[in-house]
Amino acid sequence: MAQLAKPELVIGGDHRVASSDGSTFEVKNPATNDVLARVPKATADDAKAAIDEAEAHFEKWSNTPAPERAEVLYKIGEIIRSEKSELAELLTIEEGKAFEESLAEIVEGYDTVMFIASEGRRMWSYVSPSEQTDKTCMVIRRPVGIVGIITPWNFPFSIPLWKIPPALLGGNTVVFKPASNTPLIGAKIVELFERAGLPKGVLNFVTGPGSTVGEALLDDKRIKMISFTGESKTGHRIAEANSRFLRKQLLELGGKNPVIVAKDADLSYSVGAILYASFSNCGQKCTAASRIIVEREILKEFVAKFAEGAKHLRVGNGLHQGVQVGPLISPQALEKVESYVQLGREEGAHLVTGGGRYSDAERSRGNFYQPTLFDSVSNDMRIAQEEIFGPVTAIIEAQDMEDAIRIANDTKYGLSSAIYTRDVRNAFRSLSQIQSGIGYVNQGTTGAEVHLPFGGVKESGFGREAGEVAIENYTEKKAVFIDYSYKKRSWYF
Ligand code: UN1
Repeated sequence: MAQLAKPELVIGGDHRVASSDGSTFEVKNPATNDVLARVPKATADDAKAAIDEAEAHFEKWSNTPAPERAEVLYKIGEIIRSEKSELAELLTIEEGKAFEESLAEIVEGYDTVMFIASEGRRMWSYVSPSEQTDKTCMVIRRPVGIVGIITPWNFPFSIPLWKIPPALLGGNTVVFKPASNTPLIGAKIVELFERAGLPKGVLNFVTGPGSTVGEALLDDKRIKMISFTGESKTGHRIAEANSRFLRKQLLELGGKNPVIVAKDADLSYSVGAILYASFSNCGQKCTAASRIIVEREILKEFVAKFAEGAKHLRVGNGLHQGVQVGPLISPQALEKVESYVQLGREEGAHLVTGGGRYSDAERSRGNFYQPTLFDSVSNDMRIAQEEIFGPVTAIIEAQDMEDAIRIANDTKYGLSSAIYTRDVRNAFRSLSQIQSGIGYVNQGTTGAEVHLPFGGVKESGFGREAGEVAIENYTEKKAVFIDYSYKKRSWYF
């Protein structure tokens, strides 16, 4: 059985069971709405104390050799590998996703840690020619400073591990604030770092609302970078606050990701893959497929097959054997999804399947919602433009490939996109013409791999994480010029 992590603040290695004013908040299992724990609700003073500690421990950590910093990451990788089932169970209990998906997320965390650890002996930069004789130029890397890391609840293990390891490897110290729906997995990550031997005060942990803890981080000029994944609206607020200090930032925001299904696509495998891209993690992925753009010749056949597949998805408690789709994160999320489905009906879209809660005793306790499909959707409807973040997807008819690409681009977002086709021209045209940070051919819109850069264009974000830019993000490049000519300048006698 998974051990729940202790819901404590960790500030300078000091474990605090209570915030400075003693207030707490509840964390619930989304499949049952049972209370899992009461967690300290940090105050702005607690956040400041965490920044004080990150500041106090910066010099020593930033001067620790990078290969030594990497050792902590290798150790944490070993622990993750040996405890992956317990970690996955905790993830499902707190976030709700199906156990197999949780396991995949834990493995993604492991992959990330090992990928970043290997950079400890590289962190390559370059030496370049100079314009002058007897002079060498090079670029060295220095840490950015104290990094504020603010992460979402939908990937509460792998997203913090996209951010914390490269920040630490780069020699930065960190204040980490997890989403308030999933602080226990956040606490578990901090516990793993402690067990792996990370010195105290290098990674500080504060739980609490964005409106106090997040704002306290934004408001402190000692924080030199904010790395954030979450809603576009919050991203705007963070960017605005960062402009005050011209602070470095990495923002991974929302999406309204299109999948084009070309008339030559092989439906025998594309339907299952698009169902997964739409409904895995109950549609709560910034990369979820939420607009399926289908060429008119195969529209009817595709809708029939997709609806049949959606009806057969097994929805339930993610810990139960065979469950494919878990609950939404909270009753508020459930209400939001419901109101979008209502809106879709009012806008004139046709509800093909789903569109309701479950009434059985077990599922009505949790935040479950039926996998829902609309067709006859026009791309200017709000259900095709706004991020619903739930198990709702929309089918949009395209007249031809040119029309499909135009529809795909008609959105303020630009995170992920996909095309199903057997025609290489369609594949390459869409890859070059669709405005998105990630493009898939014959795969759904999800399934990032950590050694490639992840992120979006337009309002989906600012910058990329993971990939070859992971270290780049969390270091500052310094251009260095070394003159060994000892040549006298005429400015001095
Ligand atoms: C997110 O939802 O914030 O590969 C990103 C994927 C997911 C990405 C998660 N792991 O599509």
